[in-house]
Amino acid sequence: MTNLGSLGPTGPARLEAAARSAMSGHVYDYIATGSGVEETLAANEAAWRDLLLRPRVLRDVTTVDTSTTVLGTPVSAPVLVAPTGYQRLVHPEGEVGMAAGSARAGSLLTLSTRATVTFEELVEVSGPWWLQLYILRDRGLTETIVQRAAAAGARALVLTVDTPYVARKARRTPFPPDVVSPVLVPELQARDDKGVWQDPGVTVADLAWLAEISGLPLVVKGVLRGDEARACVDAGAAAIWVSNHGGRQLDGVVPTATALAEVRAAVPEEVEVYVDGGLRTGRDVLRALALGATATFVGRPAVWALATEGAAGVHDLLVSLRAELEEAMALAGCRTVAEVAPDLLHP
Ligand SMILES: Cc1cc2nc3c(=O)[nH]c(=O)nc-3n(C[C@H](O)[C@H](O)[C@H](O)COP(=O)(O)O)c2cc1C
Repeated sequence: MTNLGSLGPTGPARLEAAARSAMSGHVYDYIATGSGVEETLAANEAAWRDLLLRPRVLRDVTTVDTSTTVLGTPVSAPVLVAPTGYQRLVHPEGEVGMAAGSARAGSLLTLSTRATVTFEELVEVSGPWWLQLYILRDRGLTETIVQRAAAAGARALVLTVDTPYVARKARRTPFPPDVVSPVLVPELQARDDKGVWQDPGVTVADLAWLAEISGLPLVVKGVLRGDEARACVDAGAAAIWVSNHGGRQLDGVVPTATALAEVRAAVPEEVEVYVDGGLRTGRDVLRALALGATATFVGRPAVWALATEGAAGVHDLLVSLRAELEEAMALAGCRTVAEVAPDLLHP
């Protein structure tokens, strides 16, 4: 085992506290907030901790390998970066810093449609990346974005489906849009107010269209039910991403740790299933793998890391989570990601 650093037991809270002191109160609130009364925000983290591990012992764990692949792309660990908008709000490097830190850690980045850098700036430093997309009311513009992303080297499209409208946030204070705008798609700047440009009329019938115009594998993000996951796969999705938007859309929904097993069971084994929401430690990642996730994504922790130390902070966070996962795998008797199985969880 490598002896990489670790966040330590209080690490996630410390990271958030450090980030909080590096930004204004309204930017902190924009990132930290959930929707409604933040029931889901709280439930996401708690649901991982409620899953008790049943370690295997007397296995030869001299070598432990956290590496795996997502849609054929090799990554150093199943700990990847979720899309979050407006990253230049928290650090001048913005998405470029996120991409550089992620690349150096051997991870994979998902770029938000609401990115504050251009594709050209991103690809200079980025490792493998996917584009997160909303289908816009303007289908022609949607097509343009998708084709620009494909030409710039995106390896997959992630369609976010839990946001037909942007939910009311518990703590959000508005920030001036002229400070930081979604420059990825300049056409969106003029229309960037409350859900005006996201099409609430999107249905499962649009998935095949998206896959066809991009030529890229399609990941559907924001699924919490087995039947819906199955319908997306039948309509052409290559992978399903179990997510409740980090507790920022419908409040009171099932935590992702609880939804994951149902989704995993509903889709064929060869379909990759990802999960995000409240994952804060390498042990949480192990729990997600035991429930059948192919990989996990972190949202807020990556933003806190970017805010405190830019690309270096993102790198350190991902390496720490990888080291924690490596340790947890060893202590649970798993040498490879493939050896992590449901029997590691107390029924
Ligand atoms: C500040 C912020 C901005 C986000 N922006 C987007 C976005 O543009 N597109 C999207 O699909 N999800 C977005 N998300 C949701 C994340 O991709 C992810 O699902 C969530 O943050 C995971 O939960 P976690 O923050 O507990 O790790 C955002 C989340 C946060 C906290």
